[in-house]
Amino acid sequence: MKTVYITTPIYYVNAKPHIGHAYTTIVCDVVTRFNRMLGNEVKFVTGTDEHGKKIEQSAVNAGLEPIEFTNQVSKLFRDLLPIINISNDDFIRTTEERHKKAVSHLWNTLNDKGYIYLGEYSGWYDVRNEAYFSEDELVNGKSPHGCDVIMMNEECYFFKLSEFQNRLLEFYDEHPDFIHPNQRRNEVLSFVQGGLKDLAISRKTFKWGIPVPNDSDHIVYVWLDALTNYLTLNNYPENLDQSNDRYWRNAIHFVGKEIVRFHAVYWPAFLMAAEISPPKQIVVHGWWMSEGEKMSKSLGNVQDPVKYCNLFGSDSLRYFLLRELAFGSDGNFSLEGFIGRYNGILANSYGNLCKRTISFAQKYCNCVVTSPKRFTEEDIVLSEKIDKLLEETVGLVEHYAFNKYLERIEQALSLLNQFIDYQKPWELKDKDQERMQDVLYTLLDNTYKVTSFFEPVIPQAAEKVMSQIDMSEDGVIKVNDSDEQLFPKIDAKNIGEFDVFARD
Ligand code: MSP
Repeated sequence: MKTVYITTPIYYVNAKPHIGHAYTTIVCDVVTRFNRMLGNEVKFVTGTDEHGKKIEQSAVNAGLEPIEFTNQVSKLFRDLLPIINISNDDFIRTTEERHKKAVSHLWNTLNDKGYIYLGEYSGWYDVRNEAYFSEDELVNGKSPHGCDVIMMNEECYFFKLSEFQNRLLEFYDEHPDFIHPNQRRNEVLSFVQGGLKDLAISRKTFKWGIPVPNDSDHIVYVWLDALTNYLTLNNYPENLDQSNDRYWRNAIHFVGKEIVRFHAVYWPAFLMAAEISPPKQIVVHGWWMSEGEKMSKSLGNVQDPVKYCNLFGSDSLRYFLLRELAFGSDGNFSLEGFIGRYNGILANSYGNLCKRTISFAQKYCNCVVTSPKRFTEEDIVLSEKIDKLLEETVGLVEHYAFNKYLERIEQALSLLNQFIDYQKPWELKDKDQERMQDVLYTLLDNTYKVTSFFEPVIPQAAEKVMSQIDMSEDGVIKVNDSDEQLFPKIDAKNIGEFDVFARD
């Protein structure tokens, strides 16, 4: 049995969640459920990142106190979890006491070990992304994120990041899988090889945050605050020996490509300074575009995950997000693409297979199908092919190739559908009752197996199907059909009627 500690980034609470946020959380949930299916021990956590100037500003714009504002928006993120069927073990808010304690403790540790000093910073500050940039990093006078920057001088505390260049490079070398995929690893390596400057880790320009211990004029830099959530959620500082903790040693942080540097450079450096071993892996995914363009409020193309779930169910959103995009690359989210995959695989291939098999067994086998006395060559070949496809999914999920994992499931479904068409149980029922039973047994047994490997992505439907195919007694399968359709077909002609965009 393996142990895994899986984390999502904690989400900024300045706007309500969209499909991009749902994506990271769903990916983590699928990895969690897949591991649990294999019998591994998983702790899976998520939460909200609530401090900083940007959020203070959003609260002012909304006419609210920061805490009232963050209470409201954090709740939207928390409420999204059951809607997209997330099986997390904990949810953190950086405004919680347990987190403030962890941040203060980490700060004091870094300070006691001599890695913090007071100095003055001047540079180009991107308020949207809460990050400073040097002159040569600006692109046409804007930050690399394309946002406006302002020149700022600030007294602040610095972290001696420059001392960590060699230790980080050695660490990446000794842990070649630390950053996944390789392209991101290479970017990080060349950034660190280029030299590291000390990092400003406090701010005096706003109040909404965690005060620096013993100097409350300063607020802890949001990224030091936010990154520490991963420790808070693993009971730091009560549990100080993180390096020997079975969860921490197996921590995997999933992040979008824009926040790699914070996770793969600053975070391991902070941890090394505190004498805590870095997490096991940083796994980086790409970005979703919407209907061919960057998602933005002003374009009105922000895809709303809640609307998708209400219209088509959470399973189909989860399935589409994992199937459509080659993990790590950018992808395009379109309603048309969604409906295409929904109808093709979920409604036709999977939904019909389950319906046909279960209702046939209910009607013509009296709900009970016993194991064949002898499996035919065709039955054996089918089962072997399916076992092989399912076995392959394990390595694919381990390497985050979710689209390939789902391709294997689809291949297994199409083998099962071909088997029905070829064996024609509806003809056998009048010709050869025994063979009909045997065909049904092979079908139900394999449908159940495929369903259990499909469950991490479509938990709701899979649980229904697994409750309709009772495999608890050796050599006997009992079915109980239901009238409910698993994935009712969507009429693509009605596309214009579906309202899937966030409106406010
Ligand atoms: N608060 C920081 C993370 C701190 S973690 C210690 C943050 N928050 S965020 O809300 O702006 O974004 C969080 C994550 O949402 C991104 O890393 C990314 O995983 C996901 N996405 C946001 N928009 C996205 C898309 N359009 N597409 C895919 N994922 C994107 O950064």
